[in-house]
Amino acid sequence: MEARQLAERLAKRSDLVVTLSLAGRTTAPALQPVPVRVGGFGGAQGLADYLLDQKIDVLIDATHPYAATISTNAAAAAPQARVALLALRRPGWTPIMGDRWIEVGDVAGAVQALGNTSRHVFLALGRKEIEPFADAPQHSYLVRSVEAVVPPLNVPHAVYITGRGPFAVADERALLEQHRIEVVVAKNSGGAATYGKIAAARALSLPVILLRRPLPPPHPPPQAGEGGEGAAVETVDDAVAWLDHASACAAARGV
Ligand SMILES: NC(=O)c1ccc[n+]([C@@H]2O[C@H](COP(=O)([O-])OP(=O)(O)OC[C@H]3O[C@@H](n4cnc5c(N)ncnc54)[C@H](OP(=O)(O)O)[C@@H]3O)[C@@H](O)[C@H]2O)c1
Repeated sequence: MEARQLAERLAKRSDLVVTLSLAGRTTAPALQPVPVRVGGFGGAQGLADYLLDQKIDVLIDATHPYAATISTNAAAAAPQARVALLALRRPGWTPIMGDRWIEVGDVAGAVQALGNTSRHVFLALGRKEIEPFADAPQHSYLVRSVEAVVPPLNVPHAVYITGRGPFAVADERALLEQHRIEVVVAKNSGGAATYGKIAAARALSLPVILLRRPLPPPHPPPQAGEGGEGAAVETVDDAVAWLDHASACAAARGV
């Protein structure tokens, strides 16, 4: 989400050449305002090679908060390629009055937290993450994913819908009511686009089983003289400001 918003802001700039990298998880990705490359780099070394080969000056890690591997690879590859690194990480949600959150470490923990008694469950997870719920066939699942779930989950009661945010609170509430949902399972993605289900669950006093965020990788130290002003910011505005500052420093050094 932020990656696209940042790309929109940077696409208008004549002083920058921007490439957006996608993992290639979706068969019909949203149109992007800048040139896109798709697919893995081949680990941290592959990413470092790409940065050097393409003569990249700045790497912005604006990936999803749960995409921990590519963030770790970025933190390793940037210093290796002597490229400045900025991490754009939107903050996670925090509970407010009325929220009934059960935080778990991973998907297996979420399956456990559902318990043995049959429940109507809303799974708002990636289609590649839901497989472990086949171990709990006693529940009835409503599964929402960006892409269709193929093959379907091996359980007797499951309904599948596809959708890409943003999702409005009123629509999320109607969905939960229509499917008589008793518990929501989700990631703590942060941001407004997918918060609707959290607010709707609160309004209906439903529990939410939230997968805890993976820890971000330690940031590489700044690299003197190389524009390696490594940093982490939380908003697109701050990312643009950081980039402006890094560009000004590079210009002052005659780079
Ligand atoms: N990645 C995303 O864009 C994305 C978007 C939404 C949600 N998520 C969530 O994040 C979790 C893990 O997802 P994941 O497997 O995609 O991420 P991941 O575990 O961080 O990445 C796995 C591998 O995918 C490749 N990759 C990931 N992001 C890439 C990018 N922007 N450009 C090029 N290659 C990329 C890398 O392959 P190489 O090692 O070969 O370079 C990376 O090692 C899931 O919960 C998923 O739902 C991810």
